[in-house]
Amino acid sequence: MQSRGVALREAIISSPALPFSEGLKPKPHICKLNKPWVRTIMASAVSTANSEQVAVKAQEPPPLQVSRRLEKFKTTIFTQMSILAVKHGAVNLGQGFPNFDGPEFVKEAAIKAIREGKNQYARGYGVPELNSAVAARFKKDTGLTVDPEKEVTVTSGCTEAIAATMLGLINPGDEVIIFSPFYDSYQATLSMSDAKIKTVTLRPPDFAVPEKELREVFSENTRAILINTPHNPTGKMFSQKELELIASLCIENDALAFTDEVYDKLAFEAEHISMASLPGMYERTVTMNSLGKTFSLTGWKIGWAIAPPHLSWGVRQAHSYLTFSTSTPMQWASVAALQAPDSYYEELLKDYRAKKNILVDGLKTVGFKVYDSPGTYFVVVDHTPFGFDNDIAFCEHLIEKVGVVAIPTSVFYVDPNEGKNLVRFTFAKDEDTLKQAIERMKANLKR
Ligand SMILES: Cc1ncc(COP(=O)(O)O)c(C=O)c1O
Repeated sequence: MQSRGVALREAIISSPALPFSEGLKPKPHICKLNKPWVRTIMASAVSTANSEQVAVKAQEPPPLQVSRRLEKFKTTIFTQMSILAVKHGAVNLGQGFPNFDGPEFVKEAAIKAIREGKNQYARGYGVPELNSAVAARFKKDTGLTVDPEKEVTVTSGCTEAIAATMLGLINPGDEVIIFSPFYDSYQATLSMSDAKIKTVTLRPPDFAVPEKELREVFSENTRAILINTPHNPTGKMFSQKELELIASLCIENDALAFTDEVYDKLAFEAEHISMASLPGMYERTVTMNSLGKTFSLTGWKIGWAIAPPHLSWGVRQAHSYLTFSTSTPMQWASVAALQAPDSYYEELLKDYRAKKNILVDGLKTVGFKVYDSPGTYFVVVDHTPFGFDNDIAFCEHLIEKVGVVAIPTSVFYVDPNEGKNLVRFTFAKDEDTLKQAIERMKANLKR
């Protein structure tokens, strides 16, 4: 309330380059807030401001404005931490992107497509060859045959697939279940869809689905449940039993399943299972994925949503008015990527396994309690052996005094207290970077 009050006061007395009396006229969006505290602040602005103050304020930029749907969201934690990493020269094991490049054969395919003039708008729901390549990979991975023309929609990364799915299939007031901790875009896109968010918390040590709580939260008002497997930030992979439980509740309550599977190829201990492959689930599932993680090309933002025609319709309607289509040459290059032989994925997993060992062994030596992470390129640890009150305080110390960036996980919970003991590290970095981070922690992090 305090900062909101201050911001509003600034808003009221900062209308630029107007005579004093004009400058005090609140902006239309402020008028709509007919709250007592707004009126008090306005009155105090009138009584205390003088022309000198107005002259100073007039040079300041106008106050930040954001719709109510998004006002509770801050700058994403990844942006904040990456800025701090640069400021303190810290080794960044925070934001989940590789510090090495994607494969040459995919980059060459993009360059070729650009040279061949594949540079104008693509078909809205995808370059036909890419829709077919996505369908072929899905068939190989799940055994399911889908129609590339009717059931695959190419999007600008999985992030847009998530947004298009929410905006295209959720009505205001619909209940949607998500598991905490969750990838941050879920809450924001659900808020943009005016959905009612219901959360179920996955807790350490194994982040298992709490069956009783899940059963309690499901009801006939549930429109959908959103699952992320392998799971960011914990690295958890939903087991067959957990997926079967969720599937039975979806069927019982006639709910949809939205599944984010961007880390499907980073499964270290067990085969990834797609929710869509469970009996009775394809008809009610939107499977979302992207190229970025698997091909170390996170900046390309090529993703897709696979769903039966009746659900693809909603996704495509939203996609049509969000971005309409996505980068044409990158779509062509993605066709080459998805045709990679199995050896590409085997090599990828081998490389990541080596990186993971360096990070996990190192973190244990430093003194963290490290939780098992069967999938993704993240590891979650308990930082409490080092005596900090919460994850934010610990991460600030880690950046400023140790020179390493991690992500505080409390930002991935509706109730930040639930994540206050946990921080996330990524091993999507070259081995020297990982070793350097471990050395810094060994030298400077004291219990
Ligand atoms: C769980 C999850 N889903 C989606 C995304 C975003 O994927 P994309 O870069 O393809 O938009 C990320 C990126 O970190 C992620 O961790």
